[in-house]
Amino acid sequence: MSTTAKGTKDRLIIFDTTMRDGEQSPGASMTKDEKLRIARALERMRVDVIEAGFPASSNGDFEAVQAIAGVIRESTIAGLCRANDRDIQRGIDALKAAKGPWRIHTFIATSALHMEKKLRMSPEQVLEQAKLSVRFAKKHCPDVEFSPEDGSRSDVDFLCRVLEAVIAEGATTINVPDTVGYAVPEQFGLFLKTLKTKIPNSDKAVWSVHCHNDLGMAVANSLAAVKIGGARQIECTINGLGERAGNTSLEEVVMAVRTRRDFFGLETGIDTRHIVPTSRLVSQITGFVVQPNKAVVGANAFAHASGIHQDGVLKARETYEIMTAEDVGWSANKIVLGKLSGRSAFKQRLKELGIELDSEDGYNKAFQRFKDLADKKAEIFDEDLQALVAQEAGISEEEHWRLVTLHQESGTGEKPKAVLVLKENQTERKTEANGDGPVDATFKAIESVAKSGAELLLFSVNAVTTGTESQGEVTVRLSKGGRIVNGVGADTDIIVASAKAYLSALNKLASKMERVNPQYGKA
Ligand code: KIV
Ligand code: ZN
Repeated sequence: MSTTAKGTKDRLIIFDTTMRDGEQSPGASMTKDEKLRIARALERMRVDVIEAGFPASSNGDFEAVQAIAGVIRESTIAGLCRANDRDIQRGIDALKAAKGPWRIHTFIATSALHMEKKLRMSPEQVLEQAKLSVRFAKKHCPDVEFSPEDGSRSDVDFLCRVLEAVIAEGATTINVPDTVGYAVPEQFGLFLKTLKTKIPNSDKAVWSVHCHNDLGMAVANSLAAVKIGGARQIECTINGLGERAGNTSLEEVVMAVRTRRDFFGLETGIDTRHIVPTSRLVSQITGFVVQPNKAVVGANAFAHASGIHQDGVLKARETYEIMTAEDVGWSANKIVLGKLSGRSAFKQRLKELGIELDSEDGYNKAFQRFKDLADKKAEIFDEDLQALVAQEAGISEEEHWRLVTLHQESGTGEKPKAVLVLKENQTERKTEANGDGPVDATFKAIESVAKSGAELLLFSVNAVTTGTESQGEVTVRLSKGGRIVNGVGADTDIIVASAKAYLSALNKLASKMERVNPQYGKA
């Protein structure tokens, strides 16, 4: 059994890869600071293993993995490495000073298609490479995970040879990926069972699965692997983020196992009350909006619209609800603070929401923004605080552009116009432009002085709470020279929120910390 020792008979290990596979979604790239915030939220939620990145893919990723390993104590921090010494050494270097447990996760493709067409290696070469890599990793780290990429489409006998060999070299977790989301639940569960039965030393490792959602079956496949195949680790991401159609969604598997304990007979260690705040954090950072009807974390997941359902729930909650909104961290839209609330009440509420800021200066700035917001909006909800803090944390040290004032004119039959005063470093600059709409005019005015030449990939507006007095939270995704960044801005005026989001994205483009989205390829 693994040194992690959590994957026992009735304990399911939750391995989060939001910051690695999740980050491979085009446009979801995160800065080091953003990753640190997500890592803290995952640790608070008691995720067992956090895959913090792919250290050899870029210096930015190396630094992010190192920084996360330097602060997280409770969760195991894993780094992904292709099956070669250089990648694994990079992983070891990023993780060796970790404050808590750490893991090397190495992979190589084992399907005939990938070996021949992508790796251009023979099966014997792949087998040898897999053995050597685990041997090398094991010399430096007791906790080694091995993944045969495209495992679900690999020849079962060849896969057995590879997995038996890497377990003999000391791999403590064997993770079988359904890399392209090709599997179907029963077949995948039986596939895992066959591997475990045929491999003589299979009991020396924890068995794990990593499913993609191309056919919408990632969660079902993962759960079938648990139920039929005896997997005791699931790899997943917050909001199901990930390559293409995404990965298994953490919130769905965790709540399925918990709600249907009668069927699965398993426990996870997850503190489910942190699910919704963490989902929101990831959505704010990546700009990937959660669809309203998404299970567990969608805005409608606990909203009953029809009269029959409302009546039933009022009489007995269980008539139409199989879990409670509070269990997964939905707050009941409480008014939490107002204009007269003081700094300590503000700090206390952030603490209750599991939000930590890095410095007293951070709290002071966030409190000032809260006061500004309270002047415009009488009732401040938890969601407002989360949006406000997300914005504060998204402001980089190297803030190049800042909004000073914005004035816009529009109306039927008029060409919308925006007039802005921006601060570029310490210099104020006035700019104005006309556009097709007020947001277009605002972005054109900003571009006329910033001259970034960036392409606008996404503009989305979300109401933070209900009602027309709600803050609008705007996400702007910009692309330039192969780099994709997200900016977020919130305000009761959505044009102001849009300007803030655009400037935040420009600041990230100007910052050296942001990095190109990592991709993995040949071993
Ligand atoms: O999908 C996949 O095969 C992966 C592996 C690297 C685990 O992400
Ligand atoms: Zn994957």
